[in-house]
Amino acid sequence: MPDEPPQQPEPDRTVCFCHNVPRSRIIAEIRAGNRTLQAIRACTHASTGCGGCEFEVREILAEEAKLADEPDQC
Ligand code: FES
Repeated sequence: MPDEPPQQPEPDRTVCFCHNVPRSRIIAEIRAGNRTLQAIRACTHASTGCGGCEFEVREILAEEAKLADEPDQC
């Protein structure tokens, strides 16, 4: 049986259900310079309700920070 490729998160999957914030919105805000949990909370309201999405918001922040540290490919 061949190895399956790693699963990629769907870009527009809802991350914060309290405030209906999709993953793509969080990524866009990070890439616009909002690189902390506090900044994401302020501009999207994600993670300001029940807090159930905080871990995933932190994961997205970490993924984006890692991508920003990678050298350009060209
Ligand atoms: S799911 Fe994001 S604050 Fe509740």
